[in-house]
Amino acid sequence: MTDIIEQIKEYSQKFNCKLPALFVKVDGLERRVVEAMEYSVLNGGKRLRPFLVSECASLFDVGFEQSFMAAASLEMLHSYSLIHDDLPAMDNDDLRRGKPTCHKQFDEATAILAGDGLLTFAFELLAKSDYEDKIKVELIKMLSVAAGAVNGMIAGQMLDLSAEKMKNVQNTEYIIKHIEEMKTGCLLKYAAQAGGVIGGADDNQQNALSVYARKIGVAFQIADDILDMTGSEEIVGKTLKKDENQNKLTFVSCYGVDKAKNMAQNLIAEAKETISVFGGKAKNLQNLADFIIERNY
Ligand code: IPE
Ligand code: IPE
Ligand code: MG
Ligand code: MG
Ligand code: MG
Repeated sequence: MTDIIEQIKEYSQKFNCKLPALFVKVDGLERRVVEAMEYSVLNGGKRLRPFLVSECASLFDVGFEQSFMAAASLEMLHSYSLIHDDLPAMDNDDLRRGKPTCHKQFDEATAILAGDGLLTFAFELLAKSDYEDKIKVELIKMLSVAAGAVNGMIAGQMLDLSAEKMKNVQNTEYIIKHIEEMKTGCLLKYAAQAGGVIGGADDNQQNALSVYARKIGVAFQIADDILDMTGSEEIVGKTLKKDENQNKLTFVSCYGVDKAKNMAQNLIAEAKETISVFGGKAKNLQNLADFIIERNY
């Protein structure tokens, strides 16, 4: 466990060093929106999605530099999803990554625009990247689907908000699985697939990466739901116990902490089994799977 935490930290440091240079200095009044974008992206975060891109690419001997643009663009898009998730009209959160949320630090309209800006910037980075055209188009296509409103992240966010308002929800197990798979799972799955695409994975390899990532994706959100209930606010860097107050439908509200934990453990065991086809090269991915549910932040 300490080993993988060190690996993630080491990766984050390298990643964080390269990230600021991607932002262009803007003069004029519109500078404010770029400042809000920078505030939200350069503002900590575990960088798990970039790490996953990098680790999956490294199965095919692709190094840090070559996977960086795919990793960075995904982190831009993920950060946009957090800014919007925190807005008063959505989860209405004040704290993110241990600091005031974007709309608290700036204002609501600027936060909406900063989210829009980061979403657009993610695709600009991919479009301008040095990847071969075929890879570039594939990444853009996969990311747009993963983030989208048809079975993607936005669909998951819509379901999450709709379930909040439903009384006597029928079919809770079906809905909760869909919420978690879409709102969180899709971007994690994209991370793994992007690594595979950059590395030239064949269909079987790409399938193994997808199955692994889908399982750790759902387990990741179960862990997030459990942390919301049982975590330390200082360590997590977010306001906790919000899911219950906002009547969120989560694995924890549906099954209770113990059963949810057990389900996450089973998913992680299956994910590790899936990724074993890559042998010793997947050691970090094996350990990452454990970290996903053992983490306290
Ligand atoms: C938070 O994601 C949002 C969810 C999908 C649960 P992370 O826990 O990866 O957030 P950061 O990037 O580390 O802040
Ligand atoms: C957010 O899920 C998922 C996305 C941003 C797509 P949560 O609402 O549970 O995330 P936190 O707990 O605010 O980080
Ligand atoms: Mg939310
Ligand atoms: Mg939230
Ligand atoms: Mg949460």
